[in-house]
Amino acid sequence: MNKGIVLAGGLGTRLYPATKVISKQLLPLYDKPMIYYPISVLLLANIRDILIISDPYNLKSFKNLLGDGNDLGIKFSYEVQQEPDGIASAFLIGESFIGNSNVCLILGDNLFFGPGFSSILQEVSSNVVGANLFAYEVRDPERFGVVDIGKSGEINNIYEKPIKPKSNLAITGLYFYDNSIIEVTKNTKISKRGEREITSINNFYLKTNNIKVKTLGRGFTWLDTGTHDSFLIASQFIQMLIKQQGLQIACLEEIAWRQGWISDEKLEEHSSYYNNNDYGRYLKKILVSQK
Ligand code: DAU
Repeated sequence: MNKGIVLAGGLGTRLYPATKVISKQLLPLYDKPMIYYPISVLLLANIRDILIISDPYNLKSFKNLLGDGNDLGIKFSYEVQQEPDGIASAFLIGESFIGNSNVCLILGDNLFFGPGFSSILQEVSSNVVGANLFAYEVRDPERFGVVDIGKSGEINNIYEKPIKPKSNLAITGLYFYDNSIIEVTKNTKISKRGEREITSINNFYLKTNNIKVKTLGRGFTWLDTGTHDSFLIASQFIQMLIKQQGLQIACLEEIAWRQGWISDEKLEEHSSYYNNNDYGRYLKKILVSQK
């Protein structure tokens, strides 16, 4: 069984003052805290053993929010990242958590929606070799890790925030690695800006011919919450989807129930807890309509 890590630290300065005293990943995107969205991706990938990493100030709030996961039939553990010293430092902080398993890392501020995403996730998750990444076409690639793919589909290089990007394909914040990731991270040099760069790690796997990049195509949504505007747009997008279809997105209780990890009685308990709002009514509705 693969392990999952959500990296939800960082300073969040790009969203100041909104994030001055609270982690960005605890702020609501429409009706639920941002971290629900990346957690839902792990659950859809059949990953039930999840480590949440955050900064020393916010870790307690994540614990208060999510608990030990027992209520969802899953397991949450917690570790602190003292300084935001790089995305790849998650693999060292999580070394003993990862143990001998493969691992999926997702950044706490990455949101994915798209038809067939669960099957894509389960396919990748069940066959992790080396590094398995996802790319997505964006208008502003200079803000991301960018993959340069050659004419016959070969990957030439990955550049972190290139000034002159060679493609529009951004590498998303969802990464699957086999157990070699721990040694690879230990052997990768710290960058000039003092970080353990995920892009350096990915380039190592590229050099050793041990990487796969799957492009998430047209009609797929990968949302960014890096600015005040994109944050609001993400909220409105989620609201629109939920209102339009009457179906929830990233509803952890629903996913756990549909995966068979919690009973009808447990789902009923969850719905009673949120009794006086649409979230609770939704849980009730799916339970009744199933019977
Ligand atoms: O979102 C995808 C992009 O994420 C990738 O395309 C880039 O290759 C990758 O470097 C990263 O770029 P960002 O500019 O988004 O990285 P940032 O430093 O903003 O960190 C992303 C999230 O991870 C953010 O919510 C904060 C958290 N974080 C980051 C670092 C460096 C931590 O929790 N700890 C850290 O040490």
